[in-house]
Amino acid sequence: MPQIKVGLIGFGTVGAGMVEVLINNRRLIADRIGAEIAVKKIADLDIASDRGVRIDPIVLTTDAMEIINDPEIDVVVELMGGCDQAMEYILMAMERGKHVVTANKALIAKHGRLLFDTAERYGVDIAFEASVAGGIPIIRALREGLAGNQIKAVLAILNGTSNYILTRMTEEGLSFNEALSIAKRSGYAEVDPTLDIDGSDAAHKLTIVVSLAFGLPCKYEDIYKEGIDTVCPEDIRFAGEFGYCLKLLAIARQVDGHIEARVHPAFVPLDHILANVNEAYNAVYVEGDFVGPTLFYGLGAGRRPTGSAVVSDLMDIARNQIKGITGRVPPLSFVRPPARELSLKPIDQLITGYYFRFSALDRPGVLSKISGFLGANNISIASVIQKGRAGHGSVPVVMLTHEAMERDVRKSLELLDKLDVVTERTVLFRVEKKTGN
Ligand code: HSE
Repeated sequence: MPQIKVGLIGFGTVGAGMVEVLINNRRLIADRIGAEIAVKKIADLDIASDRGVRIDPIVLTTDAMEIINDPEIDVVVELMGGCDQAMEYILMAMERGKHVVTANKALIAKHGRLLFDTAERYGVDIAFEASVAGGIPIIRALREGLAGNQIKAVLAILNGTSNYILTRMTEEGLSFNEALSIAKRSGYAEVDPTLDIDGSDAAHKLTIVVSLAFGLPCKYEDIYKEGIDTVCPEDIRFAGEFGYCLKLLAIARQVDGHIEARVHPAFVPLDHILANVNEAYNAVYVEGDFVGPTLFYGLGAGRRPTGSAVVSDLMDIARNQIKGITGRVPPLSFVRPPARELSLKPIDQLITGYYFRFSALDRPGVLSKISGFLGANNISIASVIQKGRAGHGSVPVVMLTHEAMERDVRKSLELLDKLDVVTERTVLFRVEKKTGN
């Protein structure tokens, strides 16, 4: 049976998961592809710790160049993370004719073009299924399964850490900091959770999704992002009163020849399928012009799910190698730019519904002052909740608007927050439409 030889750089959680899948499902994998996938070398700075998988210590090295320079290795799997060093290893591997598998979403999001061009130049494949939504095969779904569709919209929960924190806040009424502490203790948040909670991780993933779904070369820097660290339990409670929950959404939508691409906490109607995606789960809702709505759900992180995604890439490459082909499916699914020119829509032109929570003095005429001001700026109110006196003179005035333009909203809030009856900065969330609205 032919053998595909693999070199793994980075023997962390996902690397160990990949090796575990290859060992546990060795026979199944060989039956499916007609070849054996053999891990010939593993490079990591730590080659002493037990990863819970049985490997011959002879495969371990602290020198990644042993993999890059090994002429017998067919595929390099980069799971070390980070940008500069990982990029250097990947480019060197390609120059030496090796295929590459990576889970490095930041690298693909920031330097995808260079990586794909280099792969083409050297006639090798690059695969990155594990870079978006861990175990969920969303890259293959967008690139192949849904390839005959114009993609209308993608709404996704792409960050398990944030989803776990928001679930704790929703179910237990906790503050953001309390929920974050639990997430850290339970292993759902890293010691430094910045990239997960500030929306960067989801924005990296959305950059890749937008490129695949719309054939629009998308830059990470162009994706609008907000994180969840400013979410208060109060807003989650008000969301519930209006019939919504609060989720960190990654949204990409085709609207009038433009693509909206944004990551931020959003009100999601309780009857939307994504409202039931809780804990550390990820989900990607994709709407195509022929297929209609589809939903992909599963674990977006972790040793076994992400290991499963890496192995699927290895199997794809092994199949290509056996047939003597490369580049059968272009990395972003398009061999040339789509006929219809699309561009990213700046956030200030976004049109959507909004939730505002004003902190206002509890005096006669304040509500009409606020609503009159919004009306004068093209913002129409759909519903209002005003709670009783809080005791310190300020009360929350909470409202949902009909569709309005972000530019008008920003301008209005900036001016409204200067009114003497408004005591704190107004809280704003964007609202996804309820079905039938
Ligand atoms: N840290 C990510 C998450 C998983 O919380 O979803 C890896 O992309």
